[in-house]
Amino acid sequence: MSTQYNTIQAPYDYIRKKSIALIEHENIRTTLAPHIPNARVLELACGSGFYTYDFLNWGAASVLAVDISPVMIEHARASGSSPVGTTPASVLTGNNNNKKVDFLLADCTKPERYPGAPFDVVFGAWLLNYAPDRRGLLDMFRNIEMNLKEGGQVCEYYYAAG
Ligand SMILES: C[S@@+](CC[C@H](N)C(=O)[O-])C[C@H]1O[C@@H](n2cnc3c(N)ncnc32)[C@H](O)[C@@H]1O
Repeated sequence: MSTQYNTIQAPYDYIRKKSIALIEHENIRTTLAPHIPNARVLELACGSGFYTYDFLNWGAASVLAVDISPVMIEHARASGSSPVGTTPASVLTGNNNNKKVDFLLADCTKPERYPGAPFDVVFGAWLLNYAPDRRGLLDMFRNIEMNLKEGGQVCEYYYAAG
């Protein structure tokens, strides 16, 4: 179940460019963008990069993007830009040519300190709903806690229908 996105990356990306996702994107932008300038951002469940490069557009110092699916991560890495906004190539490299976006293949139900932790902002869109059970959900929160700096900000987005 955890790597189910390996086989659905293309149709997933297709629906992510349609209306409901664009509304979601705008909600995230208006809520989160003010907190991003100069922040070191950890993005959990980055998928194929729907938000990853936006953080740079919104002024992030760097982004570490984590996902459990190698197919989704590879697509995010290869695309090199936001599917919704546009990311000028100039924001993808720092003044000293440091890479500003990095990707990591990892299971967010396994709490671990990622390279570069602690981060100023931990963001996830559609992660917590993939917790397999109560214990898995608790471990996702432990993972967030281990990677967030004291006084940092957490934003997780998903909605429950029905
Ligand atoms: C609905 S997609 C969301 C992707 C992206 N955040 C977006 O908004 O388009 C859910 C993502 O969560 C990832 N995922 C599911 N369980 C995970 C886990 N335990 N650890 C890390 N990533 C996970 C999937 O591989 C998939 O890329």
